[in-house]
Amino acid sequence: MKDEGGAAWKLDAPAQTYDEIRNDRTSLLARKGRLKYNYSTKDACGPQKRKNMKKIAVIYYSRSGNTERMAKLVAEGASLESDVEVTVSSVKDFAVEKALEYDALIIGSPTYYGSMAAEIKRFFDDSVRFHGRLSGKVGAAFSSAANIGGGNETTIMDILCAMLIHGMVVAGDHAGDHYGPVSIGSPDARVEKQCRALGRKVAALSRKL
Ligand SMILES: Cc1cc2nc3c(=O)[nH]c(=O)nc-3n(C[C@H](O)[C@H](O)[C@H](O)COP(=O)(O)O)c2cc1C
Repeated sequence: MKDEGGAAWKLDAPAQTYDEIRNDRTSLLARKGRLKYNYSTKDACGPQKRKNMKKIAVIYYSRSGNTERMAKLVAEGASLESDVEVTVSSVKDFAVEKALEYDALIIGSPTYYGSMAAEIKRFFDDSVRFHGRLSGKVGAAFSSAANIGGGNETTIMDILCAMLIHGMVVAGDHAGDHYGPVSIGSPDARVEKQCRALGRKVAALSRKL
């Protein structure tokens, strides 16, 4: 399938490996000593949560890396707030029950036929096991698509609708991408800014609740 610019949708491009994500984390930490990143849910989900420390999970699905890049930017923005612990994880590595341990969930999906990828839908469908127990947590979403008007806003709205059904608290943005950051292909400078801003806003909001 091709967009108007002729770029094929990449069906089989490998996502970054977990080790590559960890390496990115290391270089990021080297550049920004104050960021607290956890790329392992094991590290972040222990019983040792500090008082007033807010835990934020950025969960994504990504085949060719665009949504994953957005996820890292969102996590970077969230980490700029003090007293937050940020986990960024592929949905494949994030057991759905772990969602209960977080104060905020930010979920990213590529746009697939104008909606979320099946892997993200599966995450929500599996969360019915603890329906009601996410109520009051902060929720937010972002999406990557191939085309302008390709359905990334409907994808975000589908994710936000599921969050609302869980009773989660969702905030819009009056100035930036209103529903959540959208990227056409790989994130450009505008998208980078939107993603960092979303992460920071969710972190700040979760500290207020
Ligand atoms: C099954 C499938 C369905 C897609 N549907 C759409 C679509 O409806 N609109 C669109 O703009 N792009 C669509 N795309 C393109 C992806 O949304 C786009 O390439 C996205 O950036 C991929 O994200 P990723 O790099 O995180 O995997 C589709 C791709 C696939 C594989």
